[in-house]
Amino acid sequence: MAKQEDQFKKVLSHAKEYGYVFQSSEIYDGLSAVYDYAQNGVELKKNIRDYWWKAMVQMHENIVGIDASILMHPTTWKASGHVDAFNDPLIDNKDSKKRYRADVLIEDYCAKIEGKIDKEVAKAAKRFGASFNKEEFLSTNGRVLGYQEKIKTILARMGKSLENEDLADVKLLIEDLEIADPLTGSRNWTEVKQFNLMFGTQIGASAESATQVYLRPETAQGIFVNFLNVQKTGRMKIPFGIAQTGKAFRNEIVARQFIFRMREFEQMEMQFFVKPGTQKEWYKEWKETRLKWHLSLGMGAENYRFHDHDKLAHYADAAADIEFKFPFGFKELEGIHSRTDFDLKAHEKHSGKKLQYFDHEENKSYTPYVVETSIGLDRMFLAVFSNSLQEEALENGTTRTVLKLPAVLAPFKAAIFPLVKKDGLPEVARKIMDDLKWDFNVFYDEKDAVGKRYRRQDAAGTPFCITVDHDSLNDDSVTIRHRDTMEQKRVLISDLKDIIKAAVDVKTWLQKIEKTV
Ligand code: GAP
Repeated sequence: MAKQEDQFKKVLSHAKEYGYVFQSSEIYDGLSAVYDYAQNGVELKKNIRDYWWKAMVQMHENIVGIDASILMHPTTWKASGHVDAFNDPLIDNKDSKKRYRADVLIEDYCAKIEGKIDKEVAKAAKRFGASFNKEEFLSTNGRVLGYQEKIKTILARMGKSLENEDLADVKLLIEDLEIADPLTGSRNWTEVKQFNLMFGTQIGASAESATQVYLRPETAQGIFVNFLNVQKTGRMKIPFGIAQTGKAFRNEIVARQFIFRMREFEQMEMQFFVKPGTQKEWYKEWKETRLKWHLSLGMGAENYRFHDHDKLAHYADAAADIEFKFPFGFKELEGIHSRTDFDLKAHEKHSGKKLQYFDHEENKSYTPYVVETSIGLDRMFLAVFSNSLQEEALENGTTRTVLKLPAVLAPFKAAIFPLVKKDGLPEVARKIMDDLKWDFNVFYDEKDAVGKRYRRQDAAGTPFCITVDHDSLNDDSVTIRHRDTMEQKRVLISDLKDIIKAAVDVKTWLQKIEKTV
């Protein structure tokens, strides 16, 4: 646990030190759970967004994009169920006056039991060595089975109580498990209450005429209300999808874990409209397709897993999370939801407008079913950033900090250095820079010894360093150094563009996804 916390602290300080993420309004001591993306962070975020957009929109002729507004007609949120049911169950500790999400306290308790299972596995792996079979151990070891059963029972009881709005039982569960305030150890709890997560504001010139509106808590509803506009103007035939990326806002109470849970964040969502009855197949298809997108980035298949939901939201007939191994354990990164026809029907009812599709092949109208893929851009950023940050022991006994970002996502693709700041080397380096910048985001640096410049770029995540030396003046060649292997090669200046392109080209990376949809 302490190791995980240390690793997470390193992620936080590295993100600040290397210009990736700053606390919002830091000079005023910041605003809780709100962050700014700095000069490198904004590039990484843009590259992740583009990578998603290209995979989802550009590569699918039956998916188009939109950019709906953040403010929407307030009835939208009545229809979607957010006004009545977008709540978190909260509990206060009477002694510390700290507020917690009751379900998170219970889930954290279960995570501790999972930690015990991990310890048993580690112990057994050590004991049995190469002959250790993890799957078999997990399904036969008495102690592990006991822990698993305990987690199952707790989560089932919590799920049932929340579903039945039985908040008294949620409190009782916290008491039964003897869960204490993580900060003070106090078990002096208030009742559990529901708290709506939407940020409200007012639109209009005067207090009398003002209308209560909300900052959207998800981008999906902007897609639903535009369903028919897009279908008609784009002459879209079912099955088809509408994608969008954009800001969403939630007044999160347990705002912690850096950019994992924010109050202002960005989503990348796609609603796929299908013929009723086919949603199960599409749900399966999209689960696979989205996992392949993640795997194409090469961050290790062992760091992903599916979590199929037992307890379904009122609008869903199937739902799963793609979980990623963050520095604080496996957590939700993306959701894939089979949302039935709930949203379109609800908007039909509240707007009085028909939101149906006329199927020429079947010669009838129907309300399409929807399969949604929804991923938090900031959460994806954290997944990429934390997974890439590594401390490497070098042969000479020193260590280096290296940010092994997938090259396709790296903010700068190459840094260009003149070995010294004289003898015409900066001029050659500048010329290379001026040539490459049409194709790639490149960085120029002539300060400090070249070894120090390499280390700076390793830590900033730049895949290539290009050094111009005195020989370059005669042989039109430079030294190119690879971030991950530290291998150095002499190459012709005229070959640089192709070498970099081969490593960072979106096409090469995306082609790793087998096209399934
Ligand atoms: N339209 C469906 C929807 O919004 P969700 O599970 O509430 O579903 C989808 O959110 C994704 O948005 C999550 O998997 C997560 O990546 C991201 N997300 C949700 N709340 C977030 C928050 N407070 N901060 C950062 N990302 C968040």
